[in-house]
Amino acid sequence: MSDKFVAAIDQGTTSSRCIIFNQDGAPVAVDQREHRQIFPKPGWVEHDATEIWSKVQAVVAGAIAKAGLRADQLSALGITNQRETTVLWDRKTGKPVHNAIVWQDTRTAALCTELGGADGQDRFRDRTGLPLASYFAGPKVAWLLDNQPGLRERAEAGEIAFGTIDSWLIWNLTGATDGGVHVTDVTNAGRTMLMNLETLQWDQSILDAMNVPAAVLPEIRSSSEVYGTAHGQVAGVPVASALGDQHAALFGQTCFGVGDAKNTYGTGSFLLLNTGQRPVPSENGLLTTMAYQLDGEPPTYCLEGSIAITGALVQWFRDQLGIIGEAAEIETLAAGVEDNGGAYIVPAFSGLFAPYWRSDARGVVAGLTRYVTKGHLARAVLEATSWQTREVVDAMYQDSGVHITSLKVDGGMTANNLLMQHQADVLGVPVIRPVVAETTCLGAAYAAGLATGVWSDLDELSSHWKQDAVWTPQMDEEKREKEFHNWRKAVERSFGWLE
Ligand code: G3P
Repeated sequence: MSDKFVAAIDQGTTSSRCIIFNQDGAPVAVDQREHRQIFPKPGWVEHDATEIWSKVQAVVAGAIAKAGLRADQLSALGITNQRETTVLWDRKTGKPVHNAIVWQDTRTAALCTELGGADGQDRFRDRTGLPLASYFAGPKVAWLLDNQPGLRERAEAGEIAFGTIDSWLIWNLTGATDGGVHVTDVTNAGRTMLMNLETLQWDQSILDAMNVPAAVLPEIRSSSEVYGTAHGQVAGVPVASALGDQHAALFGQTCFGVGDAKNTYGTGSFLLLNTGQRPVPSENGLLTTMAYQLDGEPPTYCLEGSIAITGALVQWFRDQLGIIGEAAEIETLAAGVEDNGGAYIVPAFSGLFAPYWRSDARGVVAGLTRYVTKGHLARAVLEATSWQTREVVDAMYQDSGVHITSLKVDGGMTANNLLMQHQADVLGVPVIRPVVAETTCLGAAYAAGLATGVWSDLDELSSHWKQDAVWTPQMDEEKREKEFHNWRKAVERSFGWLE
């Protein structure tokens, strides 16, 4: 057995995990805990950042115990996280001043429209690669400063720190008020809408436009370097990577070359295509965003197709409709019928993200007849994921001219064979899942291990990647395009529900 170990923390939207990897990039132990989802009003989603920090501490302790290791046997600790979720805390006490506002929260929709003014949604796109949308962190910071009495004055006086979840965890891991470092990495900073994609620094003109004081901001660093040394339960271990979860999955899938792409199927799905050392502007509803940056090296960029609801639609089918008892049952139900029976479900529960960015969209079920059974609806639920993915793949081709020849996949829904087959069918290319499907944690571990000499270079990491399953397209082209046309008609029916 190899003798070097790297721990990765994946602080996600619904749970926190810690996985310890050996030097072959194989997981040796995992621990996971969920945290509360707080819904104060329709469209609002919050997390308790203090609860998140204690769950993170618990899973780190749990994984170390399960691995039968001592903390001092860890060569490095890496961090990956739900992106855009916004925490403001008091620098003196280390306590959050409000619940974290989660990426899915839509309270800043009106503020975003106001910020767009005459220029509209693309006002900051040339500098940030992003459309103005409630998804991103900057407007969430502005909202908090405007809506918490006295907070703006305290922020301007330097008493308040802002961070996405990576910053919050690094601050706490490295000592919080007792010497904690206040940093973020380029992948997370890029999701605030406050970072300039070319300079990789905070953009003063956007800070001014959003009225966010520079005094709250963390320092922007690369994704793979030692930010500080951990205190507490993992005292002495270098904290050596930070990547937003989707960027970490790209890294864990070893998508290091231009044209390499991966799709992660979780609450939503996020398809990232490596575009190399230059940001590629999108004209088709994708995000231009960071892929990763290694210490002392130029950054790598990507195009991203962000889909808000995929796995969450299966949860809705289970929890709100009660048609299935366990998420995995959807595959059996869907397998009982030949096709979707003409039904399509567009899960625009909080608007549609890529490639539409329509906050006025709401979910629709289209094509119903008395013929449709719950089996057909189960198919329509799964197909909503593959059709939405097809739309972002088409947008990627239009933006980059790159025809993907296969798609690497990861995340919980890749256990669903019927979905993966349909995904291959509607894309017309093979869909490939690696042996280590925990690519998000793996990417954070790889970046931390590169910074601390556990692994020497990207080629060594690429040599770990092994194929587990592959699904090849079987649907004939005429059927595929006819059904895609139906999907697009259903999508159009979702627009304009929220005036
Ligand atoms: O941008 C949001 C994304 O990072 C959330 O990912 O896996 O926590 O749902 P996940």
